[in-house]
Amino acid sequence: MIKIAPSILSADFSNLIRDIGKVEEAGVDLLHIDVMDGHFVPNITIGPLVMHSIRNKTKLPFDVHLMIENPDRYIEDFVKAGADIITVHAEACTHLHRTIQNIKSFGIKAAVSLNPATPLNVLEFILDDLDMVLLMSVNPGFGGQKFIPIVLDKIKALRHMLAERGLNTDIQVDGGINLENIKDIVNAGANVLVAGSAIFNSKDIAATVAAFRQITQ
Ligand code: DX5
Ligand code: ZN
Repeated sequence: MIKIAPSILSADFSNLIRDIGKVEEAGVDLLHIDVMDGHFVPNITIGPLVMHSIRNKTKLPFDVHLMIENPDRYIEDFVKAGADIITVHAEACTHLHRTIQNIKSFGIKAAVSLNPATPLNVLEFILDDLDMVLLMSVNPGFGGQKFIPIVLDKIKALRHMLAERGLNTDIQVDGGINLENIKDIVNAGANVLVAGSAIFNSKDIAATVAAFRQITQ
């Protein structure tokens, strides 16, 4: 089953609850929350305080994408703020195994993200512990960038790697996803699709989500 996860990075922050309501009503599966610290990536976005304030305004699961250095320091804060899935970047974790166990110790789902140029083999000894792998299809930091086509090969290779181990782990793809490329991304083997600008910048959010669904059925 294909899951759609709108990234609130492209929502209108002065009308955040209204925009979250729109995607929830449109029937999306997850709310993708991009946390940036100005160190791991050049941009600064939101933290646990804002996340906590929106937690009781929606029933959507919180899919929290940490683009921060030293994520271990903040995992408990994000759990308390209502995270259902926490994704950390392999590039930001010196002790990735420990970090994944730390996330899982709170009874929530754990995922690892790889930047476009990071090879899949960093997953070799952690893959069995993961609920999801996030393959970045842009260099993280900003919404509205262009999808990097070579990532399609990476998605296929990861799906193959998982199948070889008998795993059916979620593959999430994030960055530059739109109605034109979504079919190729799903055909390559991804099943969780993050979209920020394509959803929140569209004139009719419900119609765009419906089109995403229709194309990926
Ligand atoms: C990029 C973020 C993405 C981003 C996606 O660093 O992780 O989630 O908001 O936005 P679009 O869909 O506009 O590329
Ligand atoms: Zn993201």
